[in-house]
Amino acid sequence: MSVSELEQLFANTSGNPIQHAFTRRGGHMPGAAGTDIPVEDHQDVWSQLQAKRRSGPTVMYLHVPFCANHCLFCGFYRNKWQEAHSAPYTNALIKELERDASSLASTSGPINAVYFGGGTPTALHAKDLQRLIRRITDLFPLAADCEITVEGRIYHFDDDKIETCLDAGANRFSTGVQSFNTQVRRRQGRKATGEEAIRFFEGLRDRNRAAIICDLILGLPDQSADVWLHDLQTVTDLGLDGVDLYTLAVFPGSPLSLAIKKGRISPSAPLPEQGLMYQTGLEYLAARGWRQLSSSHWARGTRERNLYNSLLKSGAQCLAFGAGAGGGLNNFSYTNHADLAAYYEQVNRGVKPLASLSKNDALATPLNHLAAGVESMRIDLAALESNEHLDQGFLQFMTPLLDNWRAAQLVEGEAVLTLTTAGRFWHQTLLTNLKAALRLWCASHQPT
Ligand SMILES: C[S@@+](CC[C@H](N)C(=O)[O-])C[C@H]1O[C@@H](n2cnc3c(N)ncnc32)[C@H](O)[C@@H]1O
Ligand code: SF4
Repeated sequence: MSVSELEQLFANTSGNPIQHAFTRRGGHMPGAAGTDIPVEDHQDVWSQLQAKRRSGPTVMYLHVPFCANHCLFCGFYRNKWQEAHSAPYTNALIKELERDASSLASTSGPINAVYFGGGTPTALHAKDLQRLIRRITDLFPLAADCEITVEGRIYHFDDDKIETCLDAGANRFSTGVQSFNTQVRRRQGRKATGEEAIRFFEGLRDRNRAAIICDLILGLPDQSADVWLHDLQTVTDLGLDGVDLYTLAVFPGSPLSLAIKKGRISPSAPLPEQGLMYQTGLEYLAARGWRQLSSSHWARGTRERNLYNSLLKSGAQCLAFGAGAGGGLNNFSYTNHADLAAYYEQVNRGVKPLASLSKNDALATPLNHLAAGVESMRIDLAALESNEHLDQGFLQFMTPLLDNWRAAQLVEGEAVLTLTTAGRFWHQTLLTNLKAALRLWCASHQPT
């Protein structure tokens, strides 16, 4: 390993770090690399995994891959929603749940959080959402304080669905709003107006039956500093329980990137401006007593726990269901078929609809430790070095990189690193670079 390889992970130490520490954002992939299991062995290995006990924090994820339309900015869109999808997709999900529900892996410990994500789970009909939540609570050993989140969007999410989800046991709603400014919303393909969004959240809040979370994006086309401030003010005035502030990522080839290229929409805010918007958001929420739980998530009071996200990012076991869902069990990672026809075909045949299955490599534990540290904005390096897969010397190897990041005002501290405001804005880049550094170090320690 040459020093220059590590230097490629350095930050720029001149200028305002939140604006200029890096010129690009890193896009880290969750989880670790591993050894692929051949497709013909998937079902046998899955059966063996199901027959083993599961221990430690566990979450359950259910994917609902349908959307009323493709919002310009979004990289999660998969399938156009049609009302006719609701019952068959719910039936398939329930069949997949029932298939594994009585296994040792499913029953041998409590499940701490359940998350319906998408896509748009709230597109499903009220009776189907109810069937799903009830079936999970009947079949699986949910912890007494289990967080049950339904993610969705305002469009489609009527009073009947809200009440049905609450009665069935949901205790947290995470709803994307992105911006409360009607024009900014409409340009991205969001159907409800800003006023409708506010009324929707007032209705949820006044029920006082669940934690209410909203996602905002910063850096959207035409989202001026004033619009951003108004977005922040609306969230705090509404008294919601939690908010995510996501920095806009313009994915190459996405409808947003094409629309900008063709001049049909204003460009998104450049990274230095996004950095300042993030800083405004962080200071605005701190001044109003909101607690920062992760680089992109804040809570107003104690109702919001953010259990699913924080457990998942610290390497919890994840039982995953639905087309395109990804999970991790007993040191293996897996994804389900995203293609609906393949998903239905395998579920109906009674097999786990796996598209990929891999055994995590030895670095999974330290990589998870780094991801959890960046997520919680506090990285315990001393604990990392005591990991059985890393021998002494890793911290020494990292010293030039960490000294550079301290000089760039991205991190503070020695044995325990805390992320500064700038470090929090660049959290994905820091994690990408930490993972790259760990792999460099391991490669240079392989026996030759
Ligand atoms: C998986 S999406 C589901 C949201 C939900 N279907 C909705 O329409 O509001 C969760 C969140 O990811 C965020 N997101 C999606 N694409 C993004 C992008 N390109 N940049 C930043 N955040 C993005 C949005 O805030 C969105 O609410
Ligand atoms: S923001 Fe939500 S509704 Fe829009 S495309 Fe993404 S997942 Fe679908």
